[in-house]
Amino acid sequence: SSTARLSCTSVPPARRVPSMIDDVRAGLLSPPRWLPPKYFYDETGSLLFEAICDTPEYYPSRTEAALLAEHAGEIMALTAPRHLLELGSGSSRKTRLLLDAWPAPAGTYWPFDVCAEMVASSGRALIDDYPDLVVRGLEGDYHGGLSCLPLPAEGRRLVAFLGGTIGNFHPGEAEAMLGEIADLLRDGDHVLIGFDRVKDPAVLEAAYDDAAGMTARFNRNVLSVLNRSLDADFPVDAYRHRSVYDPELQRVEMRLRADHAHRVTFGQLDTAIDMAAGEEILTEISRKFTPASFGDLLAAAGLAETAHFEAEGGMYSLVLAVR
Ligand code: AVJ
Repeated sequence: SSTARLSCTSVPPARRVPSMIDDVRAGLLSPPRWLPPKYFYDETGSLLFEAICDTPEYYPSRTEAALLAEHAGEIMALTAPRHLLELGSGSSRKTRLLLDAWPAPAGTYWPFDVCAEMVASSGRALIDDYPDLVVRGLEGDYHGGLSCLPLPAEGRRLVAFLGGTIGNFHPGEAEAMLGEIADLLRDGDHVLIGFDRVKDPAVLEAAYDDAAGMTARFNRNVLSVLNRSLDADFPVDAYRHRSVYDPELQRVEMRLRADHAHRVTFGQLDTAIDMAAGEEILTEISRKFTPASFGDLLAAAGLAETAHFEAEGGMYSLVLAVR
């Protein structure tokens, strides 16, 4: 779909992205059981994530938004981009804080997200609200690599990777992801990354186990996604939600624990698994960083920090980096 100021296209992956069946074979068929977190975000999961962001315990989104509101002017002045590429753009709600601070004439915003409807609907709202803005929506999965993005050669770039989503990547994978972002950057280009900080374990565990139970519903929803997509029969209500901070690995783990022993069949895989009572599935890691550990991660990816915006008390960080 396109008007002069809005277009949406799909981006082919540079490499094959494992299918849900691949991921289930790799992570679920034998202990230790795990799933990649990307399957949380069906329509129900995306709505539940929005509800999580409104709970008092889950501070990352609003803390990052406050940092963006406070520093957007400085960020846009420092980077002076022609092109703003956002990885995992979602509703672009927070990005508006950067767009509001983009000195005229604004350039082109490239929202990149796995959900085409989200890219199209948020793009339409954005060109209505920002009369100078051009939106080139991109539908695709950044796990497939970034080398096929149709960014024009000319024009300074700012790549935004917000939300603390870098924390979902295991060591090694995080360096690889940031390395692919670094490959997009030439002289004068920047990347803006949000990362959550190490803090009191009680605060961290509560952030992933809100009293209203939104996170518990978000976590259990991934079993419904598997049931629907793979013709499986997880007894969703027989799983307990758990939020556990591991101080060695400096990460919050979301887990689903089986209340009782049961068999799960997967129609699409023609296979079944036997879950023991108390056995758990690791459904997400959310790694927390210190300025030092994040600096090491940037350096390993060939990036160098040029600005660090820190929320009160070290609650959360935004970092600008260059290649
Ligand atoms: C959107 C991936 C950054 O890891 O904090 C929120 C997802 N999981 N509550 C995070 C999430 C549980 C969130 N990210």
